[in-house]
Amino acid sequence: MVAKSAPATVYVCQNCGHQSRKWLGKCPDCGEWNSFVEERAATAPKGVAAGRARLSFGAAKPVAYGEIESQDDARVSSGVAEFDRVLGGGIVPGSLVLIGGDPGIGKSTLLLQVADKLSAQGARVLYVSGEESERQIKMRGERLGVAAANLFLLPETNLEAILDEVERDAPAAIIVDSIQTVFSPKIESAPGSVSQVREVASQFLMLAKGRGVPVFLIGHVTKEGAIAGPKALEHIVDTVLYFEGERHHNHRIVRAAKNRFGAANELGVFEMTGAGLVGVANPSEMFLQERPQNVAGSVVTACMEGTRPVLVEVQALASESKFNYPVRATQGFNANRLALLLAVLERRVGLRMLASDVFINVAGGLEIDEPAADLGVVAAIASSFKNKPIDAQTAVFGEVGLTGEVRGAMQAQARAREAQALGFKKLVLPASNVEGLQRLLGLRLVGVRSVEEALDELF
Ligand code: TYD
Ligand code: MG
Repeated sequence: MVAKSAPATVYVCQNCGHQSRKWLGKCPDCGEWNSFVEERAATAPKGVAAGRARLSFGAAKPVAYGEIESQDDARVSSGVAEFDRVLGGGIVPGSLVLIGGDPGIGKSTLLLQVADKLSAQGARVLYVSGEESERQIKMRGERLGVAAANLFLLPETNLEAILDEVERDAPAAIIVDSIQTVFSPKIESAPGSVSQVREVASQFLMLAKGRGVPVFLIGHVTKEGAIAGPKALEHIVDTVLYFEGERHHNHRIVRAAKNRFGAANELGVFEMTGAGLVGVANPSEMFLQERPQNVAGSVVTACMEGTRPVLVEVQALASESKFNYPVRATQGFNANRLALLLAVLERRVGLRMLASDVFINVAGGLEIDEPAADLGVVAAIASSFKNKPIDAQTAVFGEVGLTGEVRGAMQAQARAREAQALGFKKLVLPASNVEGLQRLLGLRLVGVRSVEEALDELF
């Protein structure tokens, strides 16, 4: 189907980029309401080559596989250890990285710190800002102690002008703050619309691949759909990092939602201080800092976040419901998974969960998203329900199946080591994991096959 008469208008979901010929109240693709905005369809370039003329991925000829250099040894340290970690061990030259997060969470702060550290190594860094003036950035920089001689600020929002500047300046790394403010004059839609951010992102992709320099795009995440969400860009970029959790905590969690060059789900943990973000070397310690002792409904579970084991406290509150439909609310844990675990507790263990309100909270604002956290959640609920505290020096992990069985988890050794390192005395874990495990001094390993067995062990 080819539109004959230009310029056509299309309606584009500002959340996911779904296109429709007419306005829709609800996006059939992502389910978002009121997210459609009228946009001009991009005017097709004259001839196929026109779109590619400016920049390409480099050689347009086939290259022998054996002659391609491996990129892994070419990684560059950003100078910010936790940032290197989420990237999978440093910055990959020519990579396009999207950093998303709520306004005010610390995106500009983190990238300015990275820019500072990079330029201190002698790299020429171009910080393109469409959001703040040089003065504002300088003010932030002074707080952060930025002292880089090789850091250049460019207050510009026109993509063509930015590309020209890059051509002239040949920076070794580029930061764009934010992608929503940059626009291509070739596209008629407003800056921040899906068509615009997609065009801008693909131009920066070409730039990154063509010049072999890393490009970092900052993107805002908003619920309203007024500004195109970074979701629409996820498939274009190499790596997507999200600031997780809320601003109300002192610490900030940066997670790799997608990474072509490293483990997805990798976690970087920072503390927001008066002088910027400071890496937290031992997140488990931090997450367990305010843990109450000998209180029912609290248990420590050993999670894997990317390649790193992290101990977190899961809290549950179960109380008799006053409603026809008992309340279930979770923070940091999947609500459907909770429903499943409650059904298991009801049917396989005989706890009267269906008449109880249940609240789950993962302390510290972390999102846990792995089956091995099941046993922690189940134990916390049972503890609150029975009003019996779990020993403070005991940690648990394990996946729970529908028949109430406890299934093995990956990386059991790493989890056990972390528990030992933090001084735990007992670890309740899947029986199938115990066999292959190396004994650890001071940590008693107790393998369990079912939820019932686990609860017997804990209470
Ligand atoms: P910012 O990086 O501007 O957020 P974003 O770019 O994601 O919108 O961070 C803003 C918040 O960080 C603001 O509330 C102030 C706080 N902050 C500190 O606490 N310490 C600092 O050193 C800096 C620079 C900011
Ligand atoms: Mg900012």
